[in-house]
Amino acid sequence: MKRTGVFAGSLFLASVSLASATLASASFLASASLVGALLVNAIFFNVSIAKPAPSVDKILVLNGNKQNGKKIYLACSLCHSPQGWGTVDGYFPQLSGQHSSVLIKQLVDIHLGNRDVPTMIPFADAVFYRGNQYVADVVSYIASLPMNPENGVGRGNDLNLGKKLYGEHCQRCHGEQAQGKSDKFYPLLQGQHYEYVLRQMRWIVNGQRKNGDAEMAEQLRSFSSRDMEAVADYISRIKPKSEKLATSRFWKNPDFDSNYTSTPWQRHNTKNSNDDHHGQHQGQAKKP
Ligand code: HEC
Ligand code: HEC
Repeated sequence: MKRTGVFAGSLFLASVSLASATLASASFLASASLVGALLVNAIFFNVSIAKPAPSVDKILVLNGNKQNGKKIYLACSLCHSPQGWGTVDGYFPQLSGQHSSVLIKQLVDIHLGNRDVPTMIPFADAVFYRGNQYVADVVSYIASLPMNPENGVGRGNDLNLGKKLYGEHCQRCHGEQAQGKSDKFYPLLQGQHYEYVLRQMRWIVNGQRKNGDAEMAEQLRSFSSRDMEAVADYISRIKPKSEKLATSRFWKNPDFDSNYTSTPWQRHNTKNSNDDHHGQHQGQAKKP
């Protein structure tokens, strides 16, 4: 909205200055277009001063207000679910359990267009539009949610290969238990849905996700499909510590009405694959 507004505003000014220049006498023409150009610059300049590019560092030092975050999270729950668990088919990632630093950096990157998630951009933009404090607020609320104890996992038939590759190539940054590292912005991967992990690896390799770590992208490029599936499966089966998990997958976020439904989330959550084929392959999640 705001980008279009600035653009439309400057176009309007540019055409006003063009129109007045055309009507003016030859001697006036030069100064009129100069004034027009200055006005256009001033508008751009002012707007860029008023709304600087969001900075992860500035948001990180703020204390989030959980109560306000709860209200903002209502919009996020449309897709990420009231529990912050996303969907086991991996279409929507689990946000619960993730480091606050990572949530903030990813929100900034989504807002700046560094990740291919067009449906979420207006929601991220709306939060940033209100200011850094709102970002800190919603992140503090998400950080208070327990994780899904039964996330989506892969087929489970190539776990030795997955474990070996993880130890050789991923553990150094993401940690032995795939717990990530908050101060380095290394995401927690343990307990994340298999299909989401796999999709991110593929998107980092093909450039659809532009913010991936360069060294990691280089490594992933040498992986075959089998390697990627094996390592994603291994990661998805690393269990977070019990204090990070909800008591059961039927846990409901008490801040929400118990009959809560939303169309996007419901569409990917009509059937919990863990119900009848526990630990089975969840099927390919399509591109969001
Ligand atoms: C219209 C659906 C939708 C809504 C609403 C939505 N998101 Fe998302 N979000 C997604 C999808 C889809 C992805 C995964 C994109 C991908 O595969 O790269 C995502 C990814 C994320 C990620 C990155 C997770 C990671 O592990 O890197 C964060 C953080 C996030 N969303 C936070 C939010 C917050 C906060 C809100 C509310 C302000 C929100 N989302 C609202 C669909 C949505
Ligand atoms: C040099 C450090 C490093 C290594 C090695 C590394 N990663 Fe990463 N990884 C990162 C960083 C940093 C990010 C977050 C990048 C960003 O800001 O978007 C990330 C992000 C990810 C994500 C996206 C998580 C999410 O929530 O969206 C996945 C999946 C992932 N890594 C898997 C792997 C796998 C699998 C390996 C081993 C083959 C690996 N990484 C090796 C640093 C590393």
